[in-house]
Order: sequence, then C-alpha cells, then structure tokens
Amino acid sequence: MPRIAYVNGRYVRHADAVVHVEDRGYQFADGVYEVCEVARGFIVDMTRHLDRLNRSLGELDIAWPMSRKALETVMREVVRRNRVMNGMVYLQVTRGVAPRDHVFPVAARPAVVITAKRIDPAVVHKRAEGGLKVITVPENRWDRVDIKSIGLLPNVLAKQKAKVAGAHEAWFIDPDGTVKEGASTNAWIVTMEGKLVTRPADHGILRGITRTTLFDVAGKLGLEIEERGFTVAEAKAAREAFITAATTVVMPIVEIDGESVANGHPGSVAMSLRQAFFDVAEKTRA
Ligand code: PDD
Repeated sequence: MPRIAYVNGRYVRHADAVVHVEDRGYQFADGVYEVCEVARGFIVDMTRHLDRLNRSLGELDIAWPMSRKALETVMREVVRRNRVMNGMVYLQVTRGVAPRDHVFPVAARPAVVITAKRIDPAVVHKRAEGGLKVITVPENRWDRVDIKSIGLLPNVLAKQKAKVAGAHEAWFIDPDGTVKEGASTNAWIVTMEGKLVTRPADHGILRGITRTTLFDVAGKLGLEIEERGFTVAEAKAAREAFITAATTVVMPIVEIDGESVANGHPGSVAMSLRQAFFDVAEKTRA
C-alpha cells in the first residue's frame, strides 16, 4: 500500500507529493507546522494542537488554508489512508506561492501539506526504557520561538551536534545558565522532593502541547509542578530529568553532557507520567 500525502487539495502518492519552487515555505521558511501523536488509532490532543496552529498563523498573519473543521477531516483522512495506528501526523501551512519578494504577496493562497507516518510503539518504548542522552548548546535562536515556525535551522544544527556526540537531544542554554528547551522537545526535571520543574512558557520556548497536557497528568498523579528556570548543574544533580514532545511523549534523560543524571537510569516519575499520559490526553478517532 503506497503512502499518501495531502497537498493543496489533493491526496497524492507520498513519493509524488511536490510543492511549487516558489512556495514561500521553501524560499523563506514562511510558514508554520504542527505534529500530533497518533496512538492506538487516535489523534492525540488535536484540539490543543489546532488551537496552537491558530495562534501561530495569527502571529504571522497567515490565513487558515481551509476551515478548521475541514482541516480536522483531512488530518483524520490522511491518518486513515496511511493506516497509521501508532505514529504521527504532520501538518504544514505556508503563506503560499508567489514570485520571490520578502514582503507579503497580495494574492497568494496559503498552501497546506499533511503527511502521516507509522512509528513502532515497541521501538519508542524501548528507547524510553533505556533513557536518552542530551548535550547542551548556547541559545542562538530568534526570540519568537513561541511561534511553531518551520524556520528550524538552529534546531537542525543542534540536533546534528547531539547526534555526532552520541546523544539524542540538545538543550538550548540561556546566557544566564538556565535550560530553555530541546531542539524539538520541552525540558523538565524532578527535584529530590519529587516536584516537577519546567520553565515558564510565556516567552523563550515553545508552549508544548505535551507539556500542557502533562500538567493535567501530574494533577491526576498528585504531583506538584513548579514553573521556573533551572540550571544545567541543577538538572545534573536532580532526582530525574526528562523531555516531552508529541512524537516521544515523556522520555527520561539519563545523561547530560556525558554526566549521569542521578543513578543513570530512567526515573520512576518520568515513567509513570509516560504510562498515564494516553488516558488523560484528548483522543480523536482517526
Ligand atoms: N517538536 N519545543 C520545540 C522547539 C519543539 O519543536 C517541540 C515539538 C516541542 C514540544 O512540543 P509538543 O509537545 O507540542 O510536541 C518543544 C515537534 C514534535 C517536531 O518538531 O517534530
């Protein structure tokens, strides 16, 4: 069965899916995106993801490419046509196709691409059980990382640096020494007292949907959350550290810049949050 992508109004074979050379996403990274987890045949937290899409589009003054309801239908259809039970659905909206010129085109229609991909949950679970390693890199992104823009070059470079170092994620560090977030994940620690700590999301990081839902999960498990910055030294000395994102949900961190976090094994708090996540999150049948 061939993979299917949705491109500007048509369902096409993934291998044949193309956009115009003057799509502003291609030339200027002038667009936004969302990634939703698909788990057990459900799209997870679709409402929150589309709320954030609405905000990202609004901040860049890009119109919705179609009604929200229609977009939801297409997302479900792409997941269904690709028979994804577990994996992800990717959605990208750009300002559209127009002769190359930095200023906004007058007539361009927003362009939309939606793809879906299967991910083996057993492989992801195995990674969680092993725990992940992170490296740290200086923050070098623009100050509107609250917008889920497709302009991800610093994130790409940071992630590659992590890979070359034998790690899985890179944490951006502020000049004041505090952890911002990962190249594609939010960052958390668990204090010795069992409190969850994560940086406030009002500016300087992306307000992750997994992060937001984890507040609900923590509430269910009776865990307290403190929103404040934390340093790399504090993370290394913490009881646990972990990261969150739609593609990985909760992933324990066992090493930071080559130094073990706690005993170097995934922590029980992260694993129980991971376990409870699906039950608490919103589930939309694909
Ligand atoms: N990344 N921070 C950054 C910079 C991200 O790119 C992401 C998501 C997150 C976590 O957000 P959420 O919980 O909504 O997935 C935080 C996606 C998964 C990606 O780029 O593939």
